[in-house]
Amino acid sequence: MKHGDKANPFGKITEDWHELDGREELSEREELEMDLLLEAIFRIRGYDFRNYLRSSLRRRIRNRMNLDRLPTVTAMLEKTLYEDGYLEKLLEDFSIKVTEMFRDPNFFLAFRKKVVPILREYPSLRIWHAGCATGEEVYSMAILLQEEGLLERTSIYATDMSKEAIVQAKEGKFPLKRMQAYTKNYLQAGGIQEFSAYYSTDHTHAYVLPFMKKHMTFAQHNLATDGSFNEFHVILCRNVLIYFNPTLQTRVHGVLADSLAQDGFLALGNKESFLSVHKARFDEYWQEERIFRKR
Ligand SMILES: C[S@@+](CC[C@H](N)C(=O)[O-])C[C@H]1O[C@@H](n2cnc3c(N)ncnc32)[C@H](O)[C@@H]1O
Repeated sequence: MKHGDKANPFGKITEDWHELDGREELSEREELEMDLLLEAIFRIRGYDFRNYLRSSLRRRIRNRMNLDRLPTVTAMLEKTLYEDGYLEKLLEDFSIKVTEMFRDPNFFLAFRKKVVPILREYPSLRIWHAGCATGEEVYSMAILLQEEGLLERTSIYATDMSKEAIVQAKEGKFPLKRMQAYTKNYLQAGGIQEFSAYYSTDHTHAYVLPFMKKHMTFAQHNLATDGSFNEFHVILCRNVLIYFNPTLQTRVHGVLADSLAQDGFLALGNKESFLSVHKARFDEYWQEERIFRKR
């Protein structure tokens, strides 16, 4: 079979396996292997990463291959199929849980100044944090609402696809060494108390005060496969959609729009654009901080 033969899209690769050098061919084969891996994960456990950005997934997969000393993605597929617990390990690898309390303080400042005055008019409030990671964003919102006198009438729903993230988020336990940076964020975000009034500590960790948790429900929810589960006045889905391709972003924009009450607010991450057909269902409310309002 000749190189480039239509029946063999990888031409040289199957002929000269040991002399594999063409980068394009290498990535074409790796793409196929990744397709098979993602398809297997979807068929076995229903987690759908097929429309995640390839660049980000590729980095995660290569990182795992290095850690586990695997020569190919196919070797990873084999472990996924036959080794107990391996698939779960990959699921956690694919969940990028980088977060902070009062991350992007200007967002929380804008929320306090521009959104809270409108929320005051509502007798009760439902807020959804979609992709809450380990909970830092959720506790930040609870602190803000407490300071604005709104927490008492608010129910906060916090979801993530990652089981580990949800377990940690429920705990409300954060490394002590991060609290200094979080205090700075809190003050920049318009915080009006001593930040340390919201947590207790031991030698290693800070523990958020339990009064916040009374208003929170944590659950697993997958934006790639699950639908709307309630109607909310505010949804935060920040720094999640950046990992999705346009097809999946469109799906999720639809779920978020369907889950918002009329005039409800949607907050995206500050590097996220909103370019799907669902944009027409929203007005830009505070463009600088990516806050939209449902028409
Ligand atoms: C970078 S964190 C963002 C956390 C927080 N919203 C923030 O801005 O700091 C992204 C989170 O999205 C979650 N995620 C990724 N894909 C998801 C999906 N399909 N459904 C729900 N959560 C998802 C990840 O598990 C991760 O915890």
